[in-house]
Amino acid sequence: MQHTIVGIDVGTTKVCTVVAQLRAEGRINILGVGLTPSKGLDKGIVVNIDDAINAIAASIEKAERLSGYRIGTAFVGVAGRHIASLNSRGVVAIGRPDHEITRNDIARAVEAAQAVAIPTQREVIHVIPRAYVVDGHEGIRDPIGMSGYRLEVETHIVTGEIMAIQNLIKSVQRAGVEIDDLVLQPLASGEAVLTDEDKDRGVMLVDIGGGTTDIAIFIQGGIWHTSVIPIGGNHFTNDIACVLHVTGNTAEYLKIRYGNAIADDNPDNDVIDVETLTSGEHQKISHHLLNEILQARAEEVVEFLYHEIRRSGYEGLLPAGMVLTGGSAQLPRFDELIREMLGIPVRVGVPVDVTGLADTIDSPPYATAVGLLRWGARHGPALVGTAQNGHYEQNGGWGSAYERLKGWLKEFLP
Ligand SMILES: Nc1ncnc2c1ncn2[C@@H]1O[C@H](COP(=O)(O)OP(=O)(O)OP(=O)(O)O)[C@@H](O)[C@H]1O
Ligand SMILES: [Mg+2]
Repeated sequence: MQHTIVGIDVGTTKVCTVVAQLRAEGRINILGVGLTPSKGLDKGIVVNIDDAINAIAASIEKAERLSGYRIGTAFVGVAGRHIASLNSRGVVAIGRPDHEITRNDIARAVEAAQAVAIPTQREVIHVIPRAYVVDGHEGIRDPIGMSGYRLEVETHIVTGEIMAIQNLIKSVQRAGVEIDDLVLQPLASGEAVLTDEDKDRGVMLVDIGGGTTDIAIFIQGGIWHTSVIPIGGNHFTNDIACVLHVTGNTAEYLKIRYGNAIADDNPDNDVIDVETLTSGEHQKISHHLLNEILQARAEEVVEFLYHEIRRSGYEGLLPAGMVLTGGSAQLPRFDELIREMLGIPVRVGVPVDVTGLADTIDSPPYATAVGLLRWGARHGPALVGTAQNGHYEQNGGWGSAYERLKGWLKEFLP
């Protein structure tokens, strides 16, 4: 059976809509890609709804034109500083006379895990069951059919601010598309570039985008820690613009054409001659100074990453190291800098196992969009966001908690 699936990555610098056909064995065949510059977003969240709608609509239209497919629903990525995550356990007794664990027991355990106090202005985005404990026996991945007296579930819960989430939902819906599910961006990126072996061994996914750096730590196949750091490629560009007194466009050009995350110790007198875009005058810029600016910011990002590893409690427990995605992962020698500073394996990840128009999206900035497709293929739509008459409903427009719980269970059970 084949069916069509759509992912929309609403990033700080670009909106990327991808239409694909799901083939046997989970292969993804890309039918169309719609890429437009993003507007109305700052550090991953919608700050101007009209601009965001226009950018999203333009991206959707391009993807529709290229694929010949009319997009009705899509999986949409969510990120931003408002995202928070925590791990929570739920425990239930197995009441049936034969003590056989059923889907319903898992639902009750996951619900119990969710009973942790979530502040009123926050909404749950994911409750991801990660491992189960039956009568004290840890590390069980699928307890259905087992016998026991007591079932515990370990979950990873991701929440976001209601208003930030609703502004994203509204922007996509007003651009004419309903939402199959919202997916935390680093989880989507992880789907695209990590292998099962990476996740089993212990790995940190780092998506260094334009506005934010999103991270997710996977251990023993499950997700243990997620976080969003409010620094991305735009900060590198702004630093260059400020220090070298050039326009934003010139700074972006310098970064991408000449930039390097490591400024060599023995600088030659390498001088870059740029035409400043405003005045048409020529300006001479030290290549070494350019790289020093980039290295300073890159080191700051690495310090944040180290802080997150420590905060997660998994320092020394990431044998598969770090996998970088996002546009800024393309900054030459960024991986080398991280390897040197943290002493762990680092590689740049690109989306794999895609066919069709794959050559347009097999690079790090497209990991989130491709990952949204994989997430959708793996978990299916989560019964959310059924708006009336194509309009977003003010109250409960993203499905009731119970509907979402059912959705999650459908997603995560075999
Ligand atoms: N070759 C390169 N070297 C350095 N930086 C690059 C390169 N190519 C792209 N970038 C940077 O990547 C960033 C965009 O990355 P990406 O497309 O992943 O961001 P986004 O998804 O729109 O943003 P976010 O995920 O933060 O919301 C920009 O800051 C851009 O300057
Ligand atoms: Mg991104």
